[in-house]
Amino acid sequence: MTNPFRPTFGASPHYWAGRRVILDDYREALASGPGAASRTLVITGSRGIGKTVLLNELEDIAAGHGWVVLRASARGDISTELVESSIPAKIQEISPTATRRVTGLGIAGIGSVTTSVTGPDDPDRPRPTLESRLRDLLSLMSGTGVLITVDEIQDADRNALSRLAATYQNLIRDDLEVSLAMAGLTHGVEILLDLPGTTFMRRAHRYDLGPLTDDDAADVLATSSADSGLAFDSAGLAAAVDLAAGYPYLVQLVGSLAWNAARRSQASSISLSAVEAVSREAVATMGAQVHHPSLKGVPTVQREYLEAMAALAEPGEPTQGRAQGRGDHRDGPVATAAVAERLGKTQRAASDPRAKLIDRDLITPAGWGKVQFTLPYLGHWLRGSGTVRRVN
Ligand SMILES: Nc1ncnc2c1ncn2[C@@H]1O[C@H](COP(=O)(O)OP(=O)(O)O)[C@@H](O)[C@H]1O
Ligand SMILES: [Mg+2]
Repeated sequence: MTNPFRPTFGASPHYWAGRRVILDDYREALASGPGAASRTLVITGSRGIGKTVLLNELEDIAAGHGWVVLRASARGDISTELVESSIPAKIQEISPTATRRVTGLGIAGIGSVTTSVTGPDDPDRPRPTLESRLRDLLSLMSGTGVLITVDEIQDADRNALSRLAATYQNLIRDDLEVSLAMAGLTHGVEILLDLPGTTFMRRAHRYDLGPLTDDDAADVLATSSADSGLAFDSAGLAAAVDLAAGYPYLVQLVGSLAWNAARRSQASSISLSAVEAVSREAVATMGAQVHHPSLKGVPTVQREYLEAMAALAEPGEPTQGRAQGRGDHRDGPVATAAVAERLGKTQRAASDPRAKLIDRDLITPAGWGKVQFTLPYLGHWLRGSGTVRRVN
């Protein structure tokens, strides 16, 4: 028996749930011919919400339709690797004989496409660009197209990204079968969208990923575990769904830890006690893997705002040995007036860090005059980090 859960960033789950609308829209987009707006996607959301694996799903859908999938790295120049190796390799794969024609180098033997591409420059020939390479590739295809995916675009160089945008737009203008799917952290992508040269991204289909529904989380936990031969019982499942709070990374993590705990105790199912036994570890791992990196680079003023929120929130700590209701361990909404007061600021002065934290996707407006942490257990983590003392 092997553990069916994959609490690893970027690792596609064994069993997929949710996000169906996005996947269905994309299938439709591929079928609907060149120029469909829904062929250009920007996926945003916090760390661990499932952006990378969603990109992988889209890639699988495209490949299933016979499309060529190209992964561009957001680091560096974005297109260098595509131009120099990925696209030539695809060309070679599709049509070894076309390779010569396309690269224009008669001396290149079949199978030595990389040599022909990176070999000495022929002064009479223009250097290949991303656009010329993509046109070469597309000219070999009929009825299908090329999907380019770019992950972590919040780290991308803005000039490289606008060059990619320009190339992509030229191809669309010529009615070529292309698609572009990009993913990144909400805050970083927001900044990119505000830059000149990335206008086209503002017209892309935007998907800001939120948590999975409880039904979808339960589906992942129940189906994955049942498939492995060690299934959750109903109380165990309810507790695991609750602990995971719809957060995809936590769903995998809670599933994985509880599965191991049940296996170790040679239980025939994953029960409530197995889930309770791992709740602390799950929340602590979430802190190390998600909270800590998510707060990197957050300026002190904003951090203080978060800490004030954490101090004011009235949660029950995750406890061992007791069934937990979601309300017990997820911080509820906090009044912005109370946060301002605790910070010794006017509401006006406190509204600036608040707005920036909302932009960063760390907090969410929760009804009139209230805010709430976006990430489950962030308040708990801040209180545990030693800088926050609880009121009362
Ligand atoms: N729809 C989903 N169904 C099941 N598991 C998912 C789903 N989306 C994400 N996951 C799991 O959540 C974790 C984080 O996903 P990932 O795509 O790496 O997040 P991000 O790129 O947003 O940081 C992975 O372990 C992944 O398998
Ligand atoms: Mg990712």
